[in-house]
Amino acid sequence: MGLIVGPGPDYADRLRDWTRCTALDARQIAARLASLPYHSGPAIETLPMHPTTLDQADPLSRFRERFHIPCHGEGELAYFVGNSLGLQSKDAEAAVLTELKVWRELAVEGHFKGERPWLRYLESMNAPLAELVGAQPIEVAAMNTLTVNLHLLMVSFYRPTPERPAILIEAGAFPSDWQAVESQIRFHGFDPAECLIEVQPDEPGGTISMEAIARAIEQQGPRLALVLWPGIQYRTGQAFDLKEIARLGKAQGAAVGFDCAHAAGNLPLALHDSSADFATWCHYKYVNAGPGAVSGIFVHERHAHDATLPRLTGWYGHKLATRFQMASSFDPTPGAEGWAMSNPPILALAPVRASLELFREAGGMAALRERSLRLTGYLESLIERELSSVLEVLTPKQPERRGAQLSLRVRGGRAQGRALFEYLAAHGVLGDWREPDVIRISPAPLYNRFAEIRRFADTVLAWSKAQA
Ligand SMILES: Cc1ncc(COP(=O)(O)O)c(C=O)c1O
Repeated sequence: MGLIVGPGPDYADRLRDWTRCTALDARQIAARLASLPYHSGPAIETLPMHPTTLDQADPLSRFRERFHIPCHGEGELAYFVGNSLGLQSKDAEAAVLTELKVWRELAVEGHFKGERPWLRYLESMNAPLAELVGAQPIEVAAMNTLTVNLHLLMVSFYRPTPERPAILIEAGAFPSDWQAVESQIRFHGFDPAECLIEVQPDEPGGTISMEAIARAIEQQGPRLALVLWPGIQYRTGQAFDLKEIARLGKAQGAAVGFDCAHAAGNLPLALHDSSADFATWCHYKYVNAGPGAVSGIFVHERHAHDATLPRLTGWYGHKLATRFQMASSFDPTPGAEGWAMSNPPILALAPVRASLELFREAGGMAALRERSLRLTGYLESLIERELSSVLEVLTPKQPERRGAQLSLRVRGGRAQGRALFEYLAAHGVLGDWREPDVIRISPAPLYNRFAEIRRFADTVLAWSKAQA
């Protein structure tokens, strides 16, 4: 027995028959699921399960109820765009309302009173934030937005000299990252044409092998001031071995930083163990903290007490104990909080805090990753088996080289791609579009269901049939 394929008029009947004849009940299925290895995509195919059964069998499915699912007509939107903007959780909504109430009722006293006094709000987020990215609490802080943080961290960790002026990034980096490094190079009086080194993809689908990265770091080694690498490449969905990249960069004497925009809340990270100097990420994608949400930074513990590191400063980076003496001096808070400048935007931090608590409640990144592997494995198996004439998966096949997202090239070029993308959207299945012909589909383990992935495949099949 296999998974039911295709919608068709008899879909509901087949579903009922199939459920009736399955020998497994939800508990047995859950037990089997629990014993599945990480490479669970193909294994799931071998289980006689309907997507609805898969959803029922997974205890993490219940977290979907904690989110507002956008509507499509009378029904729900199948939302696969957590790689761009995660959905609003009811917890995030409530957290904002709580702080509005504190502001309304306590006004300035909210800094000192209430359940979470604003004066220590930031500090209270450090433990769950550290868990999210595999760091120690002193190594993380929430502040600013991603590109701003990239600049602020480069002020400290990109210290070019005439002998060592270069920054190494991946070719096709997210424009804001490219722009940030390009402008930093210019800011220091160097020429990006010579100092911005881009590692070209060397694998089919536009991904980059570890060998190519190692070669580039070795070849450019003595000139490298900084290696700035993504945790996950936004276009291809490729995940990287960050520890190895940090090791290679450090061995050449370069500083190493990571942009974890697409990795935070998507993959279990181990930033402390990676030994990177710094990292930054956003919270509006997989962390579901809302549009333009406050970003996170990581600064490795070994820099925590180094007050000599050059940095741009402001009063909220000054030690709390003496901050309000209002002196004309700067004594940095040890650790990442020492990079803070302004008093924190509580209304913007509230959804980040609530989202981090939700991650904790769901069992953290390890549990969510396990579900994510199943969801994305299921998506991949449906594409391979039913949709290969329409879609080509660009994201690496090995689960350890990707997160939730699959980047799908639509066969037949841009016009076909746009037509499929618009058909999907018109039928309530939302991915996102990347020029010239890529649709990104990212099942988020906190709120996406197996049944929605089946719906995606059915909608592609219906479009394909209509083309024939
Ligand atoms: C990889 C990457 N870098 C940078 C950015 C820009 O982030 P922000 O607008 O928060 O500065 C994004 C936004 O999606 C991104 O995906």
